[in-house]
Amino acid sequence: MFATWVGVMLLLTWRTGVIEAQSDPTEVESCVTCHQALPDGPLSDPVTRYGDDVHSGKGFGCVACHGGDGTILGPEAMDPARGFLRDLSRQRIPTMCGHCHSDAAFMRQYNPGLRVDQEVEYQSSVHGQRLVQESDSLVATCVSCHPAHGIRPPSDPLSSVHPLNVAKTCSACHANAQYMADYGIPTDQAEKYGRSVHGEALTVARDLGAPTCNDCHGNHGAAPPGVSWVGNTCGQCHSVQEQHFETSRHGEIFPLIGIPGCAACHNNHEIQAASDEMIGVGEGGICAKCHTEESEGGIQALQIRRLIDSLRIQLDSSRALLESAENSGVEVSQAQYDLEAAHSALVESRAAVHTFRAGAVDSSVAAGLAITDQAFIRGMDALGELRFRRTGLAVFALITVVLIVALLLKIKEIEGPSMSYIMFTREMRLPETRGPGSSDRNDEESS
Ligand code: HEC
Ligand code: HEC
Ligand code: HEC
Ligand code: HEC
Ligand code: HEC
Ligand code: HEC
Ligand code: HEC
Ligand code: HEC
Ligand code: HEC
Repeated sequence: MFATWVGVMLLLTWRTGVIEAQSDPTEVESCVTCHQALPDGPLSDPVTRYGDDVHSGKGFGCVACHGGDGTILGPEAMDPARGFLRDLSRQRIPTMCGHCHSDAAFMRQYNPGLRVDQEVEYQSSVHGQRLVQESDSLVATCVSCHPAHGIRPPSDPLSSVHPLNVAKTCSACHANAQYMADYGIPTDQAEKYGRSVHGEALTVARDLGAPTCNDCHGNHGAAPPGVSWVGNTCGQCHSVQEQHFETSRHGEIFPLIGIPGCAACHNNHEIQAASDEMIGVGEGGICAKCHTEESEGGIQALQIRRLIDSLRIQLDSSRALLESAENSGVEVSQAQYDLEAAHSALVESRAAVHTFRAGAVDSSVAAGLAITDQAFIRGMDALGELRFRRTGLAVFALITVVLIVALLLKIKEIEGPSMSYIMFTREMRLPETRGPGSSDRNDEESS
């Protein structure tokens, strides 16, 4: 041990030149001075990485987490008697971070908006419980998800917990079949999530409103406040469906018999876009998973489907009608605007499917149908108007032609006599002018 330290001190003298010059506490912590001089590897890496850390940015040094005395450039800096935490075992880490992050008064000085429940939440999670109760060394601790010396706020795109990076952070363990072998749980969550509506919305459309792992499982591995189990978290974002579901027979019975709520019909990680075809007991219908055609569930399914289909078909045909009227130049923008309300009614009806009762779906479908009926009438009127206009145009054209002909005839009628008069007079005059009035004839020809 002593030999090691002599080596370290010699290395230090060699790498940093004059030790005394570096040991001014206002300059830099002795921990940094010594550790950055140590050979490349786990003892010096923390110094290099710490430059981009959020704590470094707030002026905290190594001592803030590790304790010890940053003014001593020697082994005594890491003396447990000077507060140095020798024990860096996984069990110690939540308390190390929680020392500040669970202290509301301390944290308020820096950022009053920041939550101070990370340690408590973590302790209640599967990770935290296994860590403490079973001394499980494979579960995640604070520094599995936040890199110990390169911590960044979640809003930083380079952060391991930025929404676009969370799936990758969790996958480091959860997609590693070898690492997870002892637990007998699937390791396909990230893969399935990646091809779900949520995963695609987040990574392809960059819709930060779409959930990633922590939105459903809680930032710190426990379900979010007020939610008893993870399956209920869907309601954070899909509150209308959640409300309908809660009041339904399914909402009542699923928790009692262990059916996983929303996930029973939508899956949990591989959630796909919903469609009307899902309602039913035939092919593609999900109700068939648990209901026969003759059962009450099957009967309701068919009725609900019929209702939704009728509104969708009416909406589509009204839209098409108004569109053709618009393309023909009839003004129908108000009717098109009004029809949007029928689209909203269709959205409401689809959400009302989660009551799983035709009666409840019927009321929003009826409201929608009343609007599509109006729009349909307006569309037919518009086409009628168009027909009227077209007939009008034909009549107008006919009248114009008749008028032109009449006008020509009239012109002929007016001009006719004078012309025949000229011809007539010419004829009449010819014999006369032949002879003595030949000058007359020349005059007329030259004019
Ligand atoms: C004079 C050089 C020197 C100084 C100053 C120094 N260290 Fe170290 N530190 C070492 C060496 C060498 C080791 C590896 C040997 C050991 O663990 O004792 C080490 C180990 C560590 C470890 C790993 C402990 C473990 O159990 O794996 C931590 C953490 C650490 N130092 C933090 C600090 C902090 C914080 C400070 C400032 C308060 C500090 N060091 C000051 C040289 C130094
Ligand atoms: C935000 C808290 C925090 C700060 C600040 C911090 N560390 Fe650490 N450090 C840790 C934690 C937690 C671990 C244990 C990491 C693990 O188990 O993976 C650790 C581990 C270490 C180790 C052991 C690495 C190993 O792999 O054995 C060294 C050396 C170390 N830190 C040095 C430093 C130095 C030097 C500084 C200042 C530049 C520093 N740390 C600042 C939290 C911190
Ligand atoms: C010495 C007190 C202290 C310790 C110990 C500490 N932190 Fe911090 N941490 C802070 C303060 C102060 C901030 C800055 C808050 C702010 O201004 O937003 C912060 C910021 C953070 C942030 C960014 C929060 C945000 O959204 O801005 C994360 C993540 C974080 N710490 C995680 C950890 C982890 C993980 C550990 C343990 C390895 C740890 N901290 C240890 C005091 C501490
Ligand atoms: C299983 C992974 C995981 C573990 C373990 C974990 N965190 Fe986090 N942490 C996250 C995620 C994900 C976020 C981002 C939340 C968000 O998007 O707002 C986060 C955010 C934070 C923040 C920012 C403020 C907040 O609450 O959103 C702090 C501070 C923080 N964690 C501290 C800790 C501390 C301290 C521990 C250990 C007691 C810890 N974390 C353990 C994943 C984890
Ligand atoms: C360091 C590795 C590691 C990381 C990183 C990690 N976990 Fe875990 N996680 C585990 C282990 C190990 C278990 C225990 C498995 C068990 O008990 O079935 C576990 C358990 C869980 C469970 C409970 C599984 C069950 O059986 O009910 C959930 C949910 C979970 N993790 C989600 C996450 C999420 C979300 C993230 C990222 C924010 C994450 N984990 C990050 C290792 C990790
Ligand atoms: C849309 C919400 C949602 C998202 C996003 C989500 N999960 Fe889950 N997860 C669930 C539900 C619901 C369960 C089932 C819980 C139950 O049955 O108690 C579950 C179960 C799990 C389990 C337990 C084992 C299993 O497969 O059943 C693990 C581990 C897990 N999720 C990890 C993850 C990870 C990692 C991610 C990100 C890649 C993720 N989850 C994303 C909702 C979600
Ligand atoms: C018994 C099966 C079932 C359960 C349980 C279920 N849904 Fe649905 N869900 C459906 C069907 C069927 C559709 C398709 C409705 C349509 O498009 O006509 C759907 C559609 C959706 C849609 C797409 C938008 C919409 O309203 O059409 C969302 C979002 C949704 N469900 C969320 C949830 C949530 C959140 C829960 C849990 C609170 C849940 N679902 C529970 C069957 C179910
Ligand atoms: C953090 C918010 C959030 C959470 C939590 C969430 N979702 Fe979503 N969900 C979204 C967003 C945003 C979309 C829209 C994605 C897109 O652009 O298509 C979506 C889309 C859907 C769709 C497809 C809707 C459609 O129009 O076809 C279904 C079904 C769905 N979610 C079900 C669920 C279920 C089931 C859960 C819980 C296990 C859940 N969601 C949790 C935000 C969330
Ligand atoms: C995961 C299985 C499952 C799926 C999928 C499912 N149900 Fe059910 N449903 C049940 C259970 C269980 C009951 C309770 C039966 C009871 O009360 O005895 C029930 C009850 C009902 C009831 C009340 C029946 C009664 O006798 O009062 C209706 C209506 C119903 N479901 C409609 C539907 C419709 C519509 C769908 C498809 C959109 C559907 N269910 C999908 C499991 C399911």
